[in-house]
Amino acid sequence: MKNRFVFFDSTPADHRYFSHHLSNYGAELVFHKEPLSEQNIQLAENANVISVHVASKISHSVLHALPHLQFIAARTTGYDNIDVEAAKKAHIVVSNVPRYGENTVAEYTFMLLLALSRKILPSIEQSKSGKIDHTILTGFDLSGKTLGVIGTGSIGQHVIRIANGFSMPVVAYDPFPNKNLENDYNLRYVSLQELFGSADIITLHAPYTGENKHLVNSQAFASMKKGAILINTSRGELVDTKALVAVLASGKLGGAGLDVVEGENLLLLDEESELLHRKNLRGFNYAVEQMMLEKMPNVIITPHNAFNSKEAIERINSTTLENISNFFKQMPTNTV
Ligand code: NAI
Repeated sequence: MKNRFVFFDSTPADHRYFSHHLSNYGAELVFHKEPLSEQNIQLAENANVISVHVASKISHSVLHALPHLQFIAARTTGYDNIDVEAAKKAHIVVSNVPRYGENTVAEYTFMLLLALSRKILPSIEQSKSGKIDHTILTGFDLSGKTLGVIGTGSIGQHVIRIANGFSMPVVAYDPFPNKNLENDYNLRYVSLQELFGSADIITLHAPYTGENKHLVNSQAFASMKKGAILINTSRGELVDTKALVAVLASGKLGGAGLDVVEGENLLLLDEESELLHRKNLRGFNYAVEQMMLEKMPNVIITPHNAFNSKEAIERINSTTLENISNFFKQMPTNTV
């Protein structure tokens, strides 16, 4: 039987790239715009290889329903949307793209921060409407503010470099500190508790592991400085959204820039009508929390878009191609 490679979350650019570069594999190539989930497993029927982005949810049941599956090529760095343990048990190899966008996501982190610190959205609104009132557009300088970086891996390190360029001292927390960074940058490793209490701006660059769910919770918010800003380009599950809504509503937190929100897979709402029929109320709660955040003037939410630069997509697709090719050479790369 012909090999079947099925791509989910795919764009026309992905389609063009992989159709061209995988043409010599003699495989049937199938591209779906939508994510893979338990609700549409039939789209992956008979697949030997599937390739997914963050919106796809590869649970134990999905894996169980795909007996021919040998390889999952995640076109992402994070892979918390894939049940890797279940894949291992089923002898399915999983690869990711560990490096493609460290500068890309770090630049986006500062885009969110600057948009908040200089009130870009209300500034644009005022310009468009012609009703100008500078008094409500007063922002604050980044220079001299302390940045708290949680997770000092590839992306965190680029964030630290950029922060020092803005003359921001950095405090950082990572369970595996890279002490060399303290020599290279204006940076000090501290405990998580000290970071929460001393940073003016806190930015998250740790993977979501399940164990660190709600790393930023109501106690963390309580220990933060008044007016602190939270930036999350990592994973929504690291932040207790309910606590975030409360601390923003109370005026204690100065603002939040969120490229990722808790339950965002649920919130990809072609599923809206489906949510109505679900018993799981958590989906509703996430949707309500996000609606409340969207209404707050000091909150910016973007749709998990930090990875999305032309250059990063080229790097994602070329590494994914290598991962698929090396899997078939029986030398899998970037396995997780
Ligand atoms: P990385 O693996 O290079 O670095 C992660 C760092 O976090 C490591 O140093 C690790 O020791 C540390 N870490 C692990 N658990 C931690 C914890 N509980 N507290 C603090 N630090 C912890 O990963 P990279 O490339 O820097 O990416 C980080 C995350 O960014 C990814 O896991 C992914 O979730 C997210 N991401 C988001 C994108 C977006 O489009 N919004 C795009 C790419 C990545």
